[in-house]
Amino acid sequence: MAGPGVVTLAASYLGTSRWREVGSWRRCRPAARVRSVVAMIAVHGLSKRYGGTLALDDVSFDVRPGTVTGFLGPNGSGKSTTMRLIMGLDAPSRGEALIDGVPYRALRWPLRSVGAVLEARAFHPGRSAYWHLAALAAGGGIPRRRVAEVLGLAGLSDVASRRAGTFSLGMAQRLGIAAALLGDPGVLLLDEPANGLDPAGVRWVRDLTRSLAGQGRTVLVSSHLIGELALTAGRLIVISRGRLVADGTAAELSARAGGSLEEAFFGLTEGIS
Ligand SMILES: Nc1ncnc2c1ncn2[C@@H]1O[C@H](COP(=O)(O)OP(=O)(O)OP(=O)(O)O)[C@@H](O)[C@H]1O
Ligand SMILES: [Mg+2]
Repeated sequence: MAGPGVVTLAASYLGTSRWREVGSWRRCRPAARVRSVVAMIAVHGLSKRYGGTLALDDVSFDVRPGTVTGFLGPNGSGKSTTMRLIMGLDAPSRGEALIDGVPYRALRWPLRSVGAVLEARAFHPGRSAYWHLAALAAGGGIPRRRVAEVLGLAGLSDVASRRAGTFSLGMAQRLGIAAALLGDPGVLLLDEPANGLDPAGVRWVRDLTRSLAGQGRTVLVSSHLIGELALTAGRLIVISRGRLVADGTAAELSARAGGSLEEAFFGLTEGIS
């Protein structure tokens, strides 16, 4: 994965003992975390073409720690494509996406650096939630005891031994979030995490993402639910038809349309060819 001498996100992120000692996984006390203004995710001139479809057209933005950054856009606007490119799951046609200055594939300890939920059902359906997480932990050099912790965080302790294939969409989303948290990463990318969740689950995701950002982590959350992101995100990046159309706080964007974020969103995302 990483070449020799590559500085991982974890190593340089917050200057704590855990993050300096990336070779030995250790939990970090929130009190030891220090906010930084470094852009942990940097997207430069990213374009992606799928045959005749230009899914992303010269998109640039950065995502900083300490606040939830909402990635807002209509269906098909390019949110998931951007996240896949950041995670190195697809190659850009042009441009680059960096995490703490390096491409995802160059991170030495990816699971400890970045947690992502890109698909709700990214697990073997015949495996229990516990063993799904245990396998990921083993592959990522993460101690087994962390599995019970993230199951608890995700509210899945009682169903840990159930086959994940029997999970509802909401439970599958929670399992994905548990997997993303496994390595206690400094960067989180969540693609539509509230999809399929009931109101209590939506509130749980909101509180969790805010709390993770409040600990000094970098949190990028995509959604097409304007109201939800307005409640959760300190900053909104708006994308439409593969192009970045706005970047600012909910208040700044709303001010463009007489105080209505919804109107601002429609104004920004309609009429772009
Ligand atoms: N593997 C692929 N092959 C061909 N076209 C693709 C592929 N992945 C995405 N696209 C196209 O790229 C565009 C952006 O899709 P993307 O999934 O990134 O949008 P999105 O903003 O995540 O939408 P949604 O809100 O529906 O999840 C769409 O036109 C989509 O059809
Ligand atoms: Mg999507």
